[in-house]
Amino acid sequence: MYEIIDGKKLSAKLRAEIAEKANKFKEKSGRQIGLAVVLVGEDPASQVYVRNKIKACGEVGIKSYAYYLPENAGQGDVEELIRGLAEDCSVDGILVQLPLPKHLHADEILKLIPVEKDVDGFSGQNIGKLAMNEDCLVACTPNGVMKMLESKNIQIRGKKAVVVGRSDIVGKPMAMLLLNADATVTVCHSKTADLKKECLEADILVAAVGKAKFITADMIKEGAIVVDVGMNRDENGKLCGDVDFENVKDKCSYITPVPGGVGPMTITMLMYNTCAAAFGREKI
Ligand code: GUN
Repeated sequence: MYEIIDGKKLSAKLRAEIAEKANKFKEKSGRQIGLAVVLVGEDPASQVYVRNKIKACGEVGIKSYAYYLPENAGQGDVEELIRGLAEDCSVDGILVQLPLPKHLHADEILKLIPVEKDVDGFSGQNIGKLAMNEDCLVACTPNGVMKMLESKNIQIRGKKAVVVGRSDIVGKPMAMLLLNADATVTVCHSKTADLKKECLEADILVAAVGKAKFITADMIKEGAIVVDVGMNRDENGKLCGDVDFENVKDKCSYITPVPGGVGPMTITMLMYNTCAAAFGREKI
């Protein structure tokens, strides 16, 4: 029998806790926690994400500052905006929605976000701290996955964890978090020689490849914990993950659904990080 890890439910619980903390912050500091969200261009998916992030801020009592720049904004324009936000005392977190239009150098822009305001955890400094298992702001999606495992008291120590996908945003920080939690970690990617063999060894499998129903039942060890980070459309246009949920679920001890699994946790963890950044900056 498998158990679902319900990201929506966990998200609601965490958001209530964050709202309480945001309120305490206001009482102690006399100001609201602030998050600046920067969107360059008109990518429809990014517009939806940004809208949802701003909405979540309102729900937990974080003040959002939204900046919409046109598609043809220059490198200098974006850099000037970020420099200003870096200096702005009322801004605790800065988020630049990715991907940026191709003519912009994302690395140069992200470097301007001070490490203590890097609520996405994408900066080299935060990634370095995570690699060294130091206290830092951790990328929202993998951090959300860890919260989901924690919520079910799943022991990670000594388990064999396989992360499928090596993106800077999910795969790499996910692998580091699992390693920091004492799992034995394998990271698989498009050049992995025998993906099925690697997956079959996983006690914990995290799928972050971006391919609909890519992880099939024959790749799952009996009793595995399966976490699906994917957000795709299937052949009928229906939302689905990287895992073939219907066929995989019966082999699992725990599994996350799509939708309603990791997805809702990502924005919640952004609120969590923004809250942590604010308390860290004010040292309260
Ligand atoms: N684009 C896709 N996911 C993310 C994310 O977590 N943060 C940012 N800034 N951009 C993204």
